[in-house]
Amino acid sequence: MDILPTIIVIFGGAGDLTWRKLIPSLFELHRDGRMPKKFAIVALDRVPLSDTKLRSHLFDGVKQFSRHGDVKRTDWNEFARHIVYHQGDFGDPLTYSALEARCARFDRDWKVQTSRIFHLATPPAMVGVIPKLLADAGLNRDRLRDRIVVEKPIGHDLGSAMEMNRTLGASFEEAQIFRIDHYLGKETVQNILAFRFANPLFEPVWNRRYVEYVTITVAEDVGVGSRGGYYDKSGALRDMVQNHLMQLLCLVAMEPMVSFDADEIRNKKVDVLHAIRPIPRGEVQRCAVRGQYGRGTLLGKRLRDYRKEEDVAPQSSTETFAALKLFVDNWRWQGVPFYLRTGKRMPRQLSEVAIQFRQVPHQSFPPEAGRDWHPSRLILSIQPEEGIVMEFQAKFPGPKMLLRPVKMRFNYQDSFAVPSPGAYETLLWDVMNNDPTLFMRADQVEAAWQLLMPILEEWTEANPLDFPNYSAGSWGPKAADELLAREGHAWRPIT
Ligand code: BG6
Repeated sequence: MDILPTIIVIFGGAGDLTWRKLIPSLFELHRDGRMPKKFAIVALDRVPLSDTKLRSHLFDGVKQFSRHGDVKRTDWNEFARHIVYHQGDFGDPLTYSALEARCARFDRDWKVQTSRIFHLATPPAMVGVIPKLLADAGLNRDRLRDRIVVEKPIGHDLGSAMEMNRTLGASFEEAQIFRIDHYLGKETVQNILAFRFANPLFEPVWNRRYVEYVTITVAEDVGVGSRGGYYDKSGALRDMVQNHLMQLLCLVAMEPMVSFDADEIRNKKVDVLHAIRPIPRGEVQRCAVRGQYGRGTLLGKRLRDYRKEEDVAPQSSTETFAALKLFVDNWRWQGVPFYLRTGKRMPRQLSEVAIQFRQVPHQSFPPEAGRDWHPSRLILSIQPEEGIVMEFQAKFPGPKMLLRPVKMRFNYQDSFAVPSPGAYETLLWDVMNNDPTLFMRADQVEAAWQLLMPILEEWTEANPLDFPNYSAGSWGPKAADELLAREGHAWRPIT
């Protein structure tokens, strides 16, 4: 079915997110023939710019960041004629009346009632301003066709997230609000549902009877780059755990959905968040570890301390690493620890979920057979490898019964030989199709904050005395290994 004629208004149209992600993704969609037959992109920003200047700036971004890399001028021209610039102050009601008039002109020219998408690629504070002014100009009235897209961070803590949700909710209905967590747009993340619920093979063992523990790792080799100013006020728990890692945990732990309805899936995810055992104040130290990188080396390159990064306070106590131990208190997962970790300046970029299965109930092989024996493990590789690996035991060839761990692999590239769309391509396409399945609902955001509040509070109150406590280019502080070792568990060794 064709997508309705659509106007995409990007607030922050001359900004970085538009340049790096939004326009390159919309360009890819256009090249793949997936944009609506009639569409316009209105880039709205404060600076004076002509359409031509803006387009040439955006073309530069597309050349650098679009998935296919080499961009034909003709493809670009074909796409770029849909982009116009609209200068205006985000806080000025006149901007919105002019925008309304512009949208109405499209409706008249195209002789249809268009869908209007207002994408806030702006600093979070603008959520306090833009939705209300859109509403005052009547740009929120069509419940089916008017939509607003907001980027993370949704709040800085529970209180501010609730406030942000209230502000959005005062001008738009929940069904019109699309909160982006780009992890949900990743193919490999979406595949967790396919893997779990399209194969009767795995679901029967996906529970406390067979699973010993689960680890979720989202490691980045990069530091904070030029985002030190933002990051130093945020830290790993807010920047990564509250959203991306919690989403992964929900997908791994949720109950099967009854249908592929957006709210059905989101309800099942919220159920997980509600079932997570709260970490009370006083227990934080036993369940959470924080770290900050000091100088180190990575691939022969010397790297500086986090505290010496651009726009970072010299005595900063912001964590660049966080690890948590969580329990999901329900029938399926009672007693199974879920360990989450994320950090900057780790030895390599890697996101994965590892399901560690229990030992066999009785070891019947002779002791020498199983010297290298380790329990079966399933690894859902999210990036940069995209696939699934099952590790299990096999007999080593020869006269003796010797067991060795082996791997069975599914790899996206080998199996499908088509490139995966970027996360933003998927998400922007879903917004145009009015499908909120992969977006965060208000209650989900708030439930995730609620869980993290005791940790955030304790970490804010007690300055860490041992920062920096891991070297850039290492897998994080020793305490993160000890968190698992206490239970006889370990992070999956990564080479
Ligand atoms: C963002 C965080 O949400 O996700 C960044 O703000 C982080 O700090 C990024 O680098 C990681 O995303 P990806 O897709 O590169 O794993």
